[in-house]
Amino acid sequence: MKSLFLPSAFTVLHTAWSASWIVPGAVWYDTTGKKIDAHGGGVVQRGSTWYWIGYSASDNQTPLMYQSTDLVNWENLGKQAPSVTGMWRPKFASPNGSSFWLYGQQDRNALSLSSSQFVGGYSQKAKGLLPPNKYSYSDTGMFYDKTTNIWYLLTSADHNTVQINKINSDGSIGSLASSLTKGAYEAPGILESDGVYFLIVSGKTGYRANANQAFWSTSLAGPWTGPADIAPAAEKTYNSQNTYEFVVKGTQATTHIYMGDAWDSKGTAASNYVWLPVAVDAKNRKVTLQYHAMWKVDAATGVVSYPATRKRYTAAGAEVSGGWGLVAKTKRCFPGDDVDCHVAAAASNTRQQQHQRKPMVHRLRTGDEMTFRNVTGLGLGASSSGYEWVSVLYTVNDADAGEAYIKVNGEHQGVPVNLTEYNSRAGHHHTVPVRLRLDAGDLNTITLGAVGTEGFEMEVEGLELYHEDE
Ligand SMILES: *[C@@H]1O[C@H](CO)[C@@H](O)[C@H](O)[C@H]1NC(C)=O
Ligand SMILES: *[C@@H]1O[C@H](CO)[C@@H](O)[C@H](O)[C@H]1NC(C)=O
Ligand SMILES: *[C@@H]1O[C@H](CO)[C@@H](O)[C@H](O)[C@H]1NC(C)=O
Repeated sequence: MKSLFLPSAFTVLHTAWSASWIVPGAVWYDTTGKKIDAHGGGVVQRGSTWYWIGYSASDNQTPLMYQSTDLVNWENLGKQAPSVTGMWRPKFASPNGSSFWLYGQQDRNALSLSSSQFVGGYSQKAKGLLPPNKYSYSDTGMFYDKTTNIWYLLTSADHNTVQINKINSDGSIGSLASSLTKGAYEAPGILESDGVYFLIVSGKTGYRANANQAFWSTSLAGPWTGPADIAPAAEKTYNSQNTYEFVVKGTQATTHIYMGDAWDSKGTAASNYVWLPVAVDAKNRKVTLQYHAMWKVDAATGVVSYPATRKRYTAAGAEVSGGWGLVAKTKRCFPGDDVDCHVAAAASNTRQQQHQRKPMVHRLRTGDEMTFRNVTGLGLGASSSGYEWVSVLYTVNDADAGEAYIKVNGEHQGVPVNLTEYNSRAGHHHTVPVRLRLDAGDLNTITLGAVGTEGFEMEVEGLELYHEDE
């Protein structure tokens, strides 16, 4: 089946890109249509604008900044320190309010940059080991404690210690606030709610995702209690690794947001992002990621919302070549992981939704295809280049053994595109939103196929289209 695919990776030229949802794992584009390249980063708010600073995986780990007013459409503000390379996981701080700093790891040292302005103009200020014990360090995290007006640098240092150091008002790295010495953890971030601090960390498995966990304390001086899972362990943090936590404090709700990186196997620029709202139960010292295939948060009100389904196309209405045919299967909400399902069930006000028997085409194997005809596109036109979200509802028996591919209206001369090229969650979740160009009207054709090893099988429930309610 390899011959089906062109050797070179396919690329799409996007223009005037506009996005309407946060879609964990999907390829996210900036406002010019370029893939967002801000890995290991963090998001800070200034006024009504949000700034996302991370490192460029395509350009020697130099810090890049993006800005947004809705946390969905991001404008690239470019390199922040053009002469700085090899700076991993840059995080922003403003320790005295009138100077601007980026901290990150370079050669296992803490590298700090500063600028007299917030955007751009950053240059190296210091590079060194961590006080008080001259530890070398790896991952960088950052936390601003509003109760004391102090910024804290979080690091995973020597001997697997997660260290929390104050940042002095002159930008130098100050005294140790506390450290977490049990276990082997990295990629630290902190969120605070009702006086309880949650320190979120990942395990150490390189670029392979693991079950990230949280420790808690009522003081940044520790001690830290835990760990507890922040998501069902088997989900491996929805195939992501923590990089930062931030909060949208709106007029109606306070929404904490987990920012994770969905690394590819080598941490290249093909890596994507997983952002999710976090349910915080300060009283019971528990934080839980709320998984949604698509969501957004209103930056003014803080309220989280989900797209409404416009149309569904079920497997029963598709033309199938191959596979073992149509079977009715009970679609149920999977424990923990499937918040979407529970939300849909709650919204429909019936329990049936959770236990409805749905027709699915099962045992699609390499070479088998199914085609949905007469799919209604919105023809979005210039406002978003005609791209719209389409979820493919399917499961596979083994995400490492093969993939689902998709063809739209014979696009790219009928060259199939693996869904993983559009969304890192492909194969790992049963709702996989991908952004496609559909023609306006009812005559779009979408073909899905399976490609993989001999034992690879997939089972398809259908397609889901959404209202673009922007
Ligand atoms: C803030 O820190 C910078 C860098 O150390 C320094 O130049 C500036 O004078 C400080 N400003 C205040 C208000 O402390
Ligand atoms: C698709 O629409 C065309 C034109 O309305 C119609 O003739 C055809 O039967 C439809 N095909 C399917 C599979 O629904
Ligand atoms: C699509 O996935 C299959 C199965 O994993 C793989 O063999 C193939 O190389 C992939 N195609 C592209 C273009 O990446």
